[in-house]
Amino acid sequence: MLERVESVTHEAPDLADRYAQTRAASVALSAGLSDEDCVAQSMPDASPVKWHLAHTTWFFETFILEHFEPEFQPFDQAFRVLFNSYYNAIGEKHPRAQRGLVTRPSRSAVLDYRRNVDARMQALFASSMGAQFSALVEIGLQHEQQHHELIITDFLHLLSLNPALPTYRPEATLPPPAGPLRWHDFAGGLIEMGHDGLTFCFDNEMPKHRQFLEPYQLASRLVTNAEYLAFIKDGGYTTPSFWLSEGWDFVRAQKSTQPLYWHLIDGVWHQFFCNGLAELQMDAPVLNISMFEASAYAQWAGARLPTEAEWEHAATQNPALEQMFSAWQWTSSAYAPYPGFRVQAGALGEYNGKFMVNQYVLRGASLATPAGHSRPTYRNFFPATARWQFSGIRLAR
Ligand SMILES: [Fe+2]
Repeated sequence: MLERVESVTHEAPDLADRYAQTRAASVALSAGLSDEDCVAQSMPDASPVKWHLAHTTWFFETFILEHFEPEFQPFDQAFRVLFNSYYNAIGEKHPRAQRGLVTRPSRSAVLDYRRNVDARMQALFASSMGAQFSALVEIGLQHEQQHHELIITDFLHLLSLNPALPTYRPEATLPPPAGPLRWHDFAGGLIEMGHDGLTFCFDNEMPKHRQFLEPYQLASRLVTNAEYLAFIKDGGYTTPSFWLSEGWDFVRAQKSTQPLYWHLIDGVWHQFFCNGLAELQMDAPVLNISMFEASAYAQWAGARLPTEAEWEHAATQNPALEQMFSAWQWTSSAYAPYPGFRVQAGALGEYNGKFMVNQYVLRGASLATPAGHSRPTYRNFFPATARWQFSGIRLAR
């Protein structure tokens, strides 16, 4: 696994310490990268490392310093637009697809920006600001931790477009294999799902509510590379009946014949990962596939993808399940508000709620997910076409 980013311990009592740890972890993820590494953008969906470092800083500056500093002045007026990701209530934002064109400020200027905001945040910590301040800091930390994962996946995607396939983190290892596939039975019925809100969670995990489930089975582990290869060899990518209509159009248009980071070299399958290019580990979980591919595999295997309710119920009921947090697992559930979900007032209401359209929920966590973000109620979400996250398959039937 990648070293877990150690910034995220809910046990750490002191918010100022957790702040310092989380901020340092972001910079640590970019240590060893060149300035050129940090500025390029591989595709509109992925952001440059430098942008991640600046945007997470913008978040604290905009949502905390601006509200709590008596004499607030922005570090740089231009940054307020440049590093606003998607908050329309805040104002103008630089187009997402053009983040890689921002050669200035330099990486070192962005690090200055980070140090400036960090010092001002520490000054606020020193003057005991109260519950609203702490709650906003918590969101800022959780937000930055989410960007830790994106730094890894976005940067790996950038390296994947370099024909030399350079290594990002030599010490990284794939999730360990699991035992033989077994099917676990769940009786279903009326179940409860969602977070109770007694500890930190994102708004999209609430409210806790009831769902009715038919009896179902869930696979004990993730689909392996060997199993996915059998699907490919059996005409998986050339048989339209396995595919959702849009999925079939997508793989035809993309000329996809394999997971995103697989390479067939002299007849031997290889996988590109953070530790570079290596021979495909057959018993490791298949990664970097779209929801369309996950769905087609399930169809071929005579099974289906779980709903997010099934996944969460199983995760809370059956600890014998393996690899629940080894890769993000596509579900067949559209990313939609839970019954009773309310968008919170203010700009932070834009954090999750407005993305509840045209995306699917992924459950679990991945080897790049910071510790503290792995819980049964966590809802990740991406469009069905997304392949650059560490996404895999757990079957249901
Ligand atoms: Fe963000």
